[in-house]
Amino acid sequence: MATSFGDQLSSSQQLENLFEQVVKEVQHIGSEVHTVGEARPELAESSQSYIKELEENRGRPLFYPYIGSGIGNGPYVELQDGSIKIDLINGIGINIMGHSHPRVIQAGLKGAVQDVVMQGNLQPGKEMVRFAKKIVEIAKRGSRLNHSWITTSGSMANENALKMCRQKTDGARMIISMNAAFAGRTTMMAEVTDNDTMRVGLPRYDEVLRVPFFDKNNPNSIEDTTKIMKEHIEKHKGNICAFMFEPMQGEGGYNVAPREYFLPLLELCRENGIPVWADEIQTFCRTGEFFAYDTLGIGDYVDVCTVAKTIQSGCTLYTDELNPKPGLIAGTFAGSAAALSSGLEILEMMDKEGYMGPEGKVQKIHNQFIGMLNELNETTCKGLLQDAGGLGLMCAVTPLDGSREAMLNLAKKLYENGIIAFGCGRGPFRLRFLLPAVLEEKHFSAMKPIIEKSVLELA
Ligand SMILES: Cc1ncc(COP(=O)(O)O)c(C=O)c1O
Repeated sequence: MATSFGDQLSSSQQLENLFEQVVKEVQHIGSEVHTVGEARPELAESSQSYIKELEENRGRPLFYPYIGSGIGNGPYVELQDGSIKIDLINGIGINIMGHSHPRVIQAGLKGAVQDVVMQGNLQPGKEMVRFAKKIVEIAKRGSRLNHSWITTSGSMANENALKMCRQKTDGARMIISMNAAFAGRTTMMAEVTDNDTMRVGLPRYDEVLRVPFFDKNNPNSIEDTTKIMKEHIEKHKGNICAFMFEPMQGEGGYNVAPREYFLPLLELCRENGIPVWADEIQTFCRTGEFFAYDTLGIGDYVDVCTVAKTIQSGCTLYTDELNPKPGLIAGTFAGSAAALSSGLEILEMMDKEGYMGPEGKVQKIHNQFIGMLNELNETTCKGLLQDAGGLGLMCAVTPLDGSREAMLNLAKKLYENGIIAFGCGRGPFRLRFLLPAVLEEKHFSAMKPIIEKSVLELA
């Protein structure tokens, strides 16, 4: 077969050997990052100056005094102050393979030697082609989604999805979304997000209709939500462009719902020609299947799905019917060649190396993590780590008295003691974990005493 010079570049053995050498050296240095450790006084000044510089530049403090040193090893990450922590939030879900993963780095290096840094819609490269092919191949297994549009963030993928839904419904204005939804940070996604603290000073566009998410404490939750959805559809007939939902809520509190909750809502959409849009920006790759719609068995209803985070870029997946007319969707960047190449490698690993399914690594990590939290809640931390749950790598627990203050104090205490987590929910306020898929037995033994100690220090 004829080859281009670019094909020669991609298959150059000399380059491959160099990349391997680079990865080996990274691993050699990273092998020292294998246990939780305190900040080193001799690095305090350097770390502080980075933090101060960034905080002054942004005009706002950082949530954690975190500046990465640039190296890690699985769930362990070294910070610029020399401390080593177990990262159980991964930049809110980006680094599903943990830190300094050799194959993620090697794939990134291959992308980095391409002629351009960023690939775009006018200038795609082979990385973009391969990435798009793989993600559609995965999506098609359990749904009618057979196209993808790549972009640079979850919010942008959501904006593209919204435009597709509106065009499909002749410019219908209203979106049905859930209470406690989170949709991103653009002006429109701040409107779809159900959190007033995230839109202080913004005007309201009144384009969102709310339905309650599943409430396990309300025996009539399914009927109640279905009734409200019916009322919205009746009142706004012909003017609803989409039903958008997170199959498992992230920011809103790691709320899970059974299939039976979604089915009547999805049937109503089907009957009324309302496009169904699953926002899987946080759930993608994490719930034990690639898509949470697969975990829930509702893939056939989905017309549009948005993903981001783990794939190192953003992407809108859509059916033939939602395929937009020319001119509606564009944008300069699709993503960097390195990001697309690493994103593809992550998808390949998750697909072929035993992560998915009821017996897969994701589910095993979930069971062990939740089991550990429950054991602490029943023994040394009695009643102080309640309601541990979630799906797959998305786990949360209600700590202490469930107040915002207690949750924030615990997050900061854990950070001090060597574990990075984050919060979610509105009351109870929950501690959330986006676990890396590389956790092993030894990591659980390392994290358990830290969680126990941190909770007891605040009890
Ligand atoms: C469900 C959901 N939608 C949208 C977004 C926005 O994605 P991004 O921050 O990449 O714009 C997020 C990010 O946390 C999310 O969790």
